[in-house]
Amino acid sequence: MTPFLAADDASFYRKAGRLVLEACVSAVEKRGRFSIALSGGSTPRKLYSLLAEPYYRDRIAWDKWNVFWGDERCVPPDDGESNYGAARAALLSRVPIPAPQVHRMQGEVRPATEAARAYERELRLFFRNDPVPRFDLILLGVGDDGHTASLFPGTSALTEKERWVTAPHVDRLGADRLSLTFPVINSARLILVLCAGDSKSSVVRDVFQSDGPVRFPIQRVAPTEGELVWLLDKPAASRLPATARFEAVHLEKGDIHA
Ligand code: 6PG
Repeated sequence: MTPFLAADDASFYRKAGRLVLEACVSAVEKRGRFSIALSGGSTPRKLYSLLAEPYYRDRIAWDKWNVFWGDERCVPPDDGESNYGAARAALLSRVPIPAPQVHRMQGEVRPATEAARAYERELRLFFRNDPVPRFDLILLGVGDDGHTASLFPGTSALTEKERWVTAPHVDRLGADRLSLTFPVINSARLILVLCAGDSKSSVVRDVFQSDGPVRFPIQRVAPTEGELVWLLDKPAASRLPATARFEAVHLEKGDIHA
């Protein structure tokens, strides 16, 4: 698993945009539709905005998109913390994805376990032929504690093998969350981990250099049949040794879309 290492911010997001576009084209050619689970947090927001810019907006078959989320905060959709709200502002309000093809996790529903069960029903309807939902693309972020989606260290959600959606209480946050579980995440055709910032550099070092036991939830991301791609920026890769191998990503002069 050789990660991509972006020379700068523009290269990072152009590469991410290119990978999303390629996954969409491949899925539509093979299956006539594209299923993607968006991640939350701050890292993907520039990607979502970029996809709504003319170069990508005009090349993507939005009518074939089926948008889900990898996780959600237990807040209403118009709350500043909502992952759905952030994606709606940056992307969904700017591109023509048919509303019935946007599958929001209902963060406002209480108890959160009810929202988790409802989302499982929605997944079962869409992925009716899959024994476990098989997304064409799942975007993931990484926290500085090595969490991904809303699968946090020390929670029972990490070992959930049956449920597709879980509603863990995260002590560190003092809040409930909604999250896809590893059986669904690891069933994806492509998992793209977007990892930027120095605060992730210790986790990145462990992921790529450690032969020891699994310390972080992100290390449990291991697609059964699909592909796992990491896209790093330089700060996130800063604790890797000089001998570490990367696929360098940089914009050619004048090429705004690497
Ligand atoms: C969330 C995310 C979470 C996120 C990481 C990284 O809801 O917060 O899905 O898993 O991807 O916390 O967040 P940043 O991109 O803000 O560093």
